[in-house]
Amino acid sequence: MEGGARTAVLVTGGAGFIGSNLVRHILRERPRWAVINLDKLTYAGNLESLADLQDDKRHLFVRGDIADTRLVERLCLEHGIEAILNLAAESHVDRSILGPAIFVETNVAGTQALLDVARICKVKRFLQVSTDEVYGSLGPAGRFTESSPLRPSSPYSASKAAADLLVHGYRHTFGMDVVTTRCSNNYGPYQFPEKLIPLMIANALEGKPLPVYGDGMQVRDWIHVEDHCAALLAALERGRPGETYNVGSDNEWPNLHIVRKILAVLRKPESLIEHVKDRPGHDRRYAIEAGKARSELGWAPRIAFADGLERTVAWYLDNRGWWERVRTGEYRTYYEKNYGERG
Ligand code: NAD
Ligand code: TYD
Repeated sequence: MEGGARTAVLVTGGAGFIGSNLVRHILRERPRWAVINLDKLTYAGNLESLADLQDDKRHLFVRGDIADTRLVERLCLEHGIEAILNLAAESHVDRSILGPAIFVETNVAGTQALLDVARICKVKRFLQVSTDEVYGSLGPAGRFTESSPLRPSSPYSASKAAADLLVHGYRHTFGMDVVTTRCSNNYGPYQFPEKLIPLMIANALEGKPLPVYGDGMQVRDWIHVEDHCAALLAALERGRPGETYNVGSDNEWPNLHIVRKILAVLRKPESLIEHVKDRPGHDRRYAIEAGKARSELGWAPRIAFADGLERTVAWYLDNRGWWERVRTGEYRTYYEKNYGERG
């Protein structure tokens, strides 16, 4: 992949958190590329997250399902798609506990359908955007490497692991050019306020309790979404065919620390913290060893956590309308009204 005259890529899930940041990142870093953005607009997809791109001719939004092979085939042929970046997914662990079926449908069957089209249309590269959660949970020591065994422990992570295995199977069987990335927990602008950081910021701003699962000493390895997007572009352009790259920022913190930090930045009292019943099967610790991405892709994270978290809190303060419309459900009426006939 090069910054040539008319490289067209298909980003799936581009109305979600990472996808919307990635579309913006690609258009900024590769100004001559065209991005076709295919998203089903589930509860997690929000066209308001792409509002600033509405008049950008290099970006085409298409509402549709990754499992709709006819639609995806048409898009690939019509636009001469050179690469597919697959971000479309059901992404929330708690929802996967309440209703696992859609996770298999989207994350497993959806990925398989996309792989079929990529093969038929001879798409040059398929980038599978996966997660460190496929490795399962760690004890107090050690970090995940690309050769750590897959031991997913939630329906979400199991469905992502299944997708990773399918991607690998298509590479092995059909010789497709695939690259897989496995990133740790992301934070940043446009994250749906069901995930830890935006949920805690929004609740604190509304003076609501901050629900911490169990003892709050579960550890996550946080990376700013911009650093993840840079890694995805690097993997797309410089990743070796068939390889997997861990992506992380050496930034482990217990949840309780994060929640306290958010309260401190917002100057809100710690009395808002409420310990609630733990998540069933809750993974205790994730930690990523990202040396391979650093050395092979020439990538490194740039955003220090203290700075990134403060900027993220500032974003949620400045964009209160965005998350309030998400919380009231108004964002859905917004896109039905504005984009209903375009889908
Ligand atoms: P998200 O839930 O914010 O966005 C997912 C997007 O996919 C939504 O816009 C949704 O409408 C769309 N979608 C869902 N089903 C679809 C379908 N069948 N067809 C087309 N579009 C569909 O998720 P996110 O946090 O942006 O995560 C994006 C990807 O990155 C996921 O694959 C996730 O597993 C992976 N990932 C996320 C994190 C993280 O911390 N958020 C970390 C590592 C990897
Ligand atoms: P989450 O953002 O859901 O990401 P993941 O489960 O994929 O890591 O959760 C991050 C951590 O925060 C996880 O250990 C669960 C915890 N958590 C809470 O304690 N309270 C909450 O309300 C949520 C949503 C998460």
